[in-house]
Parts: sequence; C-alpha cells; structure tokens
Amino acid sequence: MSEEVKIGIIGYGVVGSGLYQILEKNGEEIRQRVGFGVRVAKIADVDWERQRPVMPPVEMRVGDAYDLISDPEIPILVETIGGTGIALKLVRAALEAGKSIVTSNKALIAMHGEELLDIAEAKGVDLMFEGAVGGTIPIIRALKESLEANHLDTILGIVNGTTNYILTRMADEELEFSDVLADAQKLGYAEADPTDDIEGYDARNKLAILSAIGFGLRARVEDVFTEGITRITQADLKYAAQMGYVVKLLAIGRRQGSRVELHVHPTLVPKNHPLAAVRGSFNAIFVHGDGCDDVMLYGRGAGDMPTGSAVAGDVIEAARNVVGGCKGRVLCTCLAAAEPAPMDEVDTRTYLRIRVTDQPGVMGKIATALGDEGVSLASVIQLDTDGQVAEIVLVTHLCAEGRLNRALERVKALDVVEEIASRIRAMDEG
Ligand code: HSE
Repeated sequence: MSEEVKIGIIGYGVVGSGLYQILEKNGEEIRQRVGFGVRVAKIADVDWERQRPVMPPVEMRVGDAYDLISDPEIPILVETIGGTGIALKLVRAALEAGKSIVTSNKALIAMHGEELLDIAEAKGVDLMFEGAVGGTIPIIRALKESLEANHLDTILGIVNGTTNYILTRMADEELEFSDVLADAQKLGYAEADPTDDIEGYDARNKLAILSAIGFGLRARVEDVFTEGITRITQADLKYAAQMGYVVKLLAIGRRQGSRVELHVHPTLVPKNHPLAAVRGSFNAIFVHGDGCDDVMLYGRGAGDMPTGSAVAGDVIEAARNVVGGCKGRVLCTCLAAAEPAPMDEVDTRTYLRIRVTDQPGVMGKIATALGDEGVSLASVIQLDTDGQVAEIVLVTHLCAEGRLNRALERVKALDVVEEIASRIRAMDEG
C-alpha cells in the first residue's frame, strides 16, 4: 500500500462537495498516477442538516473547523467557505499551525493574498488558489509556471460565469436583464444575493489576482475600475448585434508603460473575436506576452466538479510537497505595487445610444460636439424613429475616456438631445 496524505475540507458547499466527489471518483487513478493516495479525512461545516446532492459519510463530518486545524494527522486543509470573514480567520490560524492551504476563495486572495502568502512562506507551507479564478481553467499555474519566462502585457478575460450566462440568454432569447436574472436564480445559476456577480465585484477580485501574478504587480481591488451588467438592455444587445458585436463582461488588464490599466465592464466584442464565442457559464482568459504571443484558455467557470477539479489539482500538488518533504514553493509574486492608470487616461472605443429629437441636422450637431473635443466616429446608425424621437447609435474611434466625458457634456447640452441612454465600451480591434 502506497503512502496516503490526509486532507480536511472546511466548508461543504458547491466547491467542497465537488472536491470530495472528484477525489472519491478518481482516487484510485490519482494514486496510481502520482504514486501516493490523497484521502479526505474530515469535512467541517456548520450545517449538516441541509441536504446536498452528495453527502459524505457521517464519521467524516465535523462541526468545528478548529478540529481540523488542530489535527496533527492532516497536513493540508482546503478552504471553500468563501468571503473574508470567518474564512480569513481560519486560513490564518491554519497557516500559523503549519498547514498547507488550498482555497477557491477569490475575495480572500485578492484582498489578503500578500499577508497570507507571507505567513505561508514563513511557515514553509503551501498556499494555492487555482480554483479562485476561472473555475476549472488552469490559469494560475499557467501564469506562474508555464508562461513565467514571458513579459506579459495584456490579460483579457470573461471570468464570471453568472454574468456571461445572463448576457448569453438575453441575446439568444431577446429577454431583459431582470427577467433572465430572476430565472437564473430559480435555476441556481445565480446566487440569491447576486450583487457580487452582477455588479462586477467577483470579476474585479479575479482581475486583481490575475494581474498580481501575470504582471507581478500588487493591485488593490479598489484600483480596478468596475462596472456591472445591470444597465445592459435588450435594445443595446440588438444594436450591437446589427453592428457585428456581442456584449460580454470583460476583465481587462493592460500594461501602459510603467502603469497598468485595470478595468471590468460590459464590452462590445467583435463577433469574430474568440472571446465572443464564450457562451453561457463558460469562462475564457486571453493573455499576450512577448514570447508566447496570444494564448487563450477556456473552460467551465463554475460548478462543483469543474471547480473541484482545479482545487483537487492544487491538493495533489501540495500533497506532493508533503510526501517529498519540500518547503512550500508558492511565494508572493508581487514585486511592486501597481500604479493604476486613471480611467480618464485609458483609451477606449465607446458605443453610445443617444435619444434625440427627430429633425434634420441632428446627426451633424452631435458629430460636431464630439469632434470639437477630438472624438471621431467609427460607425453610426440611426434607428427606431417614432416621428418625434429617434435613436442614434454610434461607436467612437479610440480616445481617452476623459476626452469622451468632456465631449459627452457638450452632446448632453444640445437642445436636440433628450438623453444619452447607453454608453458601453467597445473592444479595441487594432
Ligand atoms: N460566482 C462565480 C461566477 C462563481 O459566476 O463565475 C465562480 O467563481
């Protein structure tokens, strides 16, 4: 019988149960492949009354996570509670107790990663978090190991499954945001409190983690300009489609000299761009580096077994270090604090839907107001005239957001303009 490494899981929700299932299902194959066994010894959760699709045997269940932290036979703990409250306390305590930690908690790593990695380093244990970004997609290891010889300049991703699912259904079924959200909640695709997903906070946390690793820059989540998808309407999706785009919530990190742009927002993506084909709850992350050129990784962004698979990969790697008697190798990759570029200085192309009085010369006035600030137009369509009010839809060429803001003040001041109904950034196709 080969050696066996015992692990404990703290939090038996979607990810915890996915990890348990995959290790149960493939345990023997994993043992043969890696040369030792990985066995779930204890699972801590505060609520064992709630039925999950797969329940672990009663003897594995405990109510107090500190039972796992103080167990000398368990060298690796997996945290799948989420959030930065009790999860932070437990992870700190476990690292201090000399346990290696594997977590899928993006908020924890985005906000406290540096502190926790420092403790892990001091204690000579691992802190791994592949499951925190992109669900099953092996992006953390790709950035830390496979691509580490590159100087990366761009990270671009669809990193939130809930919003991608909502936007995909809105486009396919011609539904409004609130209708799809309600249905997604009923089907379990969106949380009862969907704020973190629909307001872009989940994607923001993931972008902060990706840029810390990909660019080696410590970004605070507050450095990430963040806008969610709640204002996207059916009308915008239709106009975007007519102009050859789909709308996606993108997380964008781009080096700009010594500074870095970090922004999360709905974005018009050309239909022929690979990210446009990422549908439903799938995620994809696209990076560009000086050696690797373009690389895109694609896979399921959430779900029990997909995320469980990513977490299990980390667990096996941490177990390898335990078996080999190695010191944890996962050091903080942030070499410096990020110097974020203010959004006003970020160049974007922008889609605008403007409601105007339907009279001759309106288009000219708008083009002049934009042109006076140096904003030029890439495409224009005028649609849906009801005799009095018309909608003008246009996409600008690349220009700094600050310049566009000033131009839009001029547009709003025109007597023929009723309102700027929508403003959505568009991907730079250059
Ligand atoms: N709420 C996340 C999403 C789950 O929708 O992508 C995976 O992190």
